[in-house]
Amino acid sequence: MRRIINLRSDTVTRPTEGMRRAMAAAEVGDDYYRDDPTVLALEEKAAALFQRESALLVFSATMANLVSVLSQTRRGQSVVLEASSHIFNNEAGFLSTFGSLTPRTVRGTRGRMTPEQVEEAVFPKAVLHPQTSLLCLENTHNAAGGTCLSLEQTEALAAKAHSLGLKVHLDGARIFNASVALGVPVAELTAPADSVTVCLTKGLGCPVGALVLGSRALVEEARRWRQVAGGGMRQGGVVAAAGIVALDTMVERLAEDHANARRLAALLADVGLVLDPPPEEVETNILFAEIPDHLMDAGVFVDRLWGEGVVVNPPRNRRIRLITHLDVSAEDVEEAGAAVRRVLQRGEAFRFADDGAREADLLRGGPTTWGPPRGAVATPPRSAPGLPPPGPGPNPPPAPG
Ligand SMILES: Cc1ncc(COP(=O)(O)O)c(C=O)c1O
Repeated sequence: MRRIINLRSDTVTRPTEGMRRAMAAAEVGDDYYRDDPTVLALEEKAAALFQRESALLVFSATMANLVSVLSQTRRGQSVVLEASSHIFNNEAGFLSTFGSLTPRTVRGTRGRMTPEQVEEAVFPKAVLHPQTSLLCLENTHNAAGGTCLSLEQTEALAAKAHSLGLKVHLDGARIFNASVALGVPVAELTAPADSVTVCLTKGLGCPVGALVLGSRALVEEARRWRQVAGGGMRQGGVVAAAGIVALDTMVERLAEDHANARRLAALLADVGLVLDPPPEEVETNILFAEIPDHLMDAGVFVDRLWGEGVVVNPPRNRRIRLITHLDVSAEDVEEAGAAVRRVLQRGEAFRFADDGAREADLLRGGPTTWGPPRGAVATPPRSAPGLPPPGPGPNPPPAPG
């Protein structure tokens, strides 16, 4: 079977053999009664690692953010968060739908807000304003290209928020990527926040699960909200077992994903794609690359890359996102770079082909040269052999994961 290099997200990883074995062998009970020894073991391990009083296993990072935010706000209040943050853009609007909260967004630089911006975004204490009660941070920042908040930046932002009477929630879905990139232990890096989300299904490779970390009181409140959201677990140990393997064995290897991302960025820049952040500033495992119009229509580029067995999400505004992970090796990165080069070279040949001859080909019902007529809307291939099922159509929603 043809090998697919799937760069859509680090959520596409499949559980390792070790995880599958641990899941199959997990000792379980009913977590509603706090009777599942494997869930308890994961939560205790995570709490110790992050030096927190308590941890709570939930189904997803979205759910971890949801219950953390609901535990620290009341209906009618406001929350400060970065304009391109995952919570604001990609979690189906839970701030308003479930929280009755008003978001106050701040445009950061590469996802990083300043304490001054946070202060400006906090509503003055007056009866007519939705009182601001929470600051949400994101580390690493997905939409900014996997950028890290340093310990000093996190401390300064949290200190400002606390001085203004706000709590701080850290969406650390990829906090281990930040910790590995910065060389700062997760306990230190997350200490300034009151609550922390940690995802087990991204770089760490689990099939399901995320954690909320915080004080005992906060976690008990989050447990209640988890129940409200229908997220209570029974024999959750089957899931927790993979989480234990992840925390024990999958963290340090994230450095490989970061090295692979830097190499991939360099390969893409070499053939004319515009990387943002630029290759020398890639911090972790997420890349954004723009396909300049003079090279190729971005939709056509993505279609043809699929044809080469390299899968990325459909472009937004000519930009594609590529994420390295457990199932993408250094060799895969070289192959992906070569595939991009081939696609662009063929595009080049096509652009110099005789347009008249090409139109005649099309009228005969089958182009003998590459691709749709200029200006045509590209759709992902529907049935290329060996490829995963096609992605969304020509105007897909933003890629979430
Ligand atoms: C920064 C960040 N937070 C939260 C999430 C939500 O994760 P999930 O979709 O697994 O719930 C994501 C997903 O990619 C993310 O990138």
